Amino acid sequence: MGALWSPGRRRVPGGVHTGQVSSSAASASTDTSAPVLRDFGAGPFGIYVHVPFCATRCGYCDFNTYTAGELGTSASPQSWLAALRGELAAAAREFAALPSSTPEVATVFVGGGTPSLLGGDGLAAVLDAVRTEFTLAAGAEVTTESNPESTSPEFFERIRAAGFTRVSLGMQSAAQHVLRVLDRTHTPGRAVAAAREARAAGFDHVNLDLIYGTPGERDADLDASLDAVLDAGVDHVSAYSLIVEDGTALARRVRRGELPAPDDDVLAARYERIDARLRSAGLGWYEVSNWAAGDAAVCRHNLGYWDGGDWLGAGPGAHSHVGGVRWWNVKHPARYADRVGAGGLPAAGWEALGADERYMERIMLAVRLRSGLPLTDLASSAVPAVDRVVADGLAVRSDGDRLVLTDRGRLLADGVVRELLG
Ligand SMILES: C[S@@+](CC[C@H](N)C(=O)[O-])C[C@H]1O[C@@H](n2cnc3c(N)ncnc32)[C@H](O)[C@@H]1O
Ligand code: SF4
Repeated sequence: MGALWSPGRRRVPGGVHTGQVSSSAASASTDTSAPVLRDFGAGPFGIYVHVPFCATRCGYCDFNTYTAGELGTSASPQSWLAALRGELAAAAREFAALPSSTPEVATVFVGGGTPSLLGGDGLAAVLDAVRTEFTLAAGAEVTTESNPESTSPEFFERIRAAGFTRVSLGMQSAAQHVLRVLDRTHTPGRAVAAAREARAAGFDHVNLDLIYGTPGERDADLDASLDAVLDAGVDHVSAYSLIVEDGTALARRVRRGELPAPDDDVLAARYERIDARLRSAGLGWYEVSNWAAGDAAVCRHNLGYWDGGDWLGAGPGAHSHVGGVRWWNVKHPARYADRVGAGGLPAAGWEALGADERYMERIMLAVRLRSGLPLTDLASSAVPAVDRVVADGLAVRSDGDRLVLTDRGRLLADGVVRELLG
């Protein structure tokens, strides 16, 4: 299958598909002057808050996050929260100058980094900061990512009472030797225990993240991970193939020959194993790397990214997208706080998407969704490519008007996108 391998954590121009920020995410054509905003689009509006702190750095991870040792006295959770408040206020002022009134916030996603390091009170303060500047819609989805080892029953009770509605826990694997290769500091059982604690605290919506294809992982390890996930009774699973990111400790170990690179054929077989197990347990795919137990369990925030909605990304290195204008913040927490202190948005660069870029993004993201790509979104020149991917068994015309990947097509989604974009 080689270079055609497709599932996994996705990058889109200027960021990664979840809106969270990897340290290497940047755009080719950047303008370092203040972003010139355009009016809101028609889609839902969400807010992503980036928490740039981790207790230790996992060897595979290139997200924009820092340990206390790396930051020294240059930044702290307290200085970050003060700067976040300043950025949210600046963004609210910028939005108030647009022709349309600022939409109510349909979704909030606090990601990282390790948001649970802030503790329950810290996360409650983050949500208060959002509510001070913006109006949350009735029934808004409010998610926080959390690392299993920095959670407890009291933590989940506190954030539930504060208004969070959804928790996403980084489990990665149930096999101790796999967690060791990934540098994870929690025990195999802690993620499942945390998921149960979250449910007991009243969270109906709990996600567990898995990574598959780690060097040394066997089919039996993956099966044990899936058993544990299903045993935890969560309503959402994200499963990402391990990506060896340039500049990480994992990449250095692979380069030195200490660890083998993940094998594409193994990854494909593991993906099929995950999909079959989750499907038979009632969790269906709704994006190539995401499974949910029905419509109420999908992550609405992430669907907003994939459907081309508007979002404000606040915090160091976070990416925003409003009405076809994209901007990304300075990455280091100390520089970020300096920029917020100077007034305006703490953007490192911005760009206004042209029609071609918007078309490409629309195809790249919508093809990966179970709801598929409306055929009316495709240029007429793409019709022969649609015929080819359907003839090759990679996609079907669903209800006659949408292109939806088949099971095989999900493994080759990038190839389908390339074919459609010609
Ligand atoms: C960046 S973490 C942030 C949340 C939290 N700190 C954690 O570790 O779960 C979000 C998810 O990204 C995924 N991830 C990060 N780097 C990855 C990589 N190189 N390959 C595959 N998945 C990755 C992991 O599954 C992780 O749970
Ligand atoms: S805990 Fe999460 S964000 Fe932090 S280094 Fe590990 S994977 Fe990256």
